[in-house]
Amino acid sequence: MSSTLQSDAVASTLNRLLTAEDKQDLAAEWAAAGVDLGGEFPVGMSAAEMAERTKDIIMSVSREGGRLLYLLTRAVKARTVVEFGTSFGISTLYLAAAVRDNGGGQVITTELQQEKARRATENFAAAGLGDLVDLRLGDARETLRDLPEVDLVLLDGWLDLRLPILRIVEPRLRPGALVVVDDVDLDIGRGVYEEFRDYINDPANGYFSLTLPVHQGVQLALKLG
Ligand SMILES: C[S@@+](CC[C@H](N)C(=O)[O-])C[C@H]1O[C@@H](n2cnc3c(N)ncnc32)[C@H](O)[C@@H]1O
Repeated sequence: MSSTLQSDAVASTLNRLLTAEDKQDLAAEWAAAGVDLGGEFPVGMSAAEMAERTKDIIMSVSREGGRLLYLLTRAVKARTVVEFGTSFGISTLYLAAAVRDNGGGQVITTELQQEKARRATENFAAAGLGDLVDLRLGDARETLRDLPEVDLVLLDGWLDLRLPILRIVEPRLRPGALVVVDDVDLDIGRGVYEEFRDYINDPANGYFSLTLPVHQGVQLALKLG
């Protein structure tokens, strides 16, 4: 039995997007967008303004990170996946391929920037996975308030919002659900993850957590029963 990830439509869509991402000079792109990645966080602008300024930058999970998402989604047999931060939909494609191979379900993903959401929707259609994706345009602090029971959540939107978004999604996480957080080892000269790590590592909050050395660090947390 083959994986949807290997189907021509998904593989070619991912390859096109990841190749375009490889060609970017990320540091230069962020600087041109007026965001100083070495500065203080939050960066002195709203989430929406930062999304607007960076709307042409592809900033996806790594290839390995995407394969890890596929593997984890398959392993927990997830039918309902939630994602904070769609961008061009690269991670969403890995998640949706896995949900399809689990027998069907949905990936609820959310993006603040309209043009990115439009381009992501085109990418889902090109990959033949559009029927599995519920893309909610708007601020995750609003769009993720209405959720069914969740099997896996990927937190990949702006760094300072990951804990607030986890707290919004948390009541819908089933026991055994996975929380996946990308880029936790990113050296951006700020302690933006400390609050998140303190929360997820406090046994009182009901998670078992580990960080994997995949690309710039992927944190996994299991929601305990
Ligand atoms: C690192 S990118 C996501 C990459 C994507 N997961 C992938 O692997 O292709 C972060 C995205 O989150 C979006 N974002 C940031 N804050 C948001 C918010 N409050 N609500 C919805 N989307 C948000 C940004 O516009 C940006 O496109």
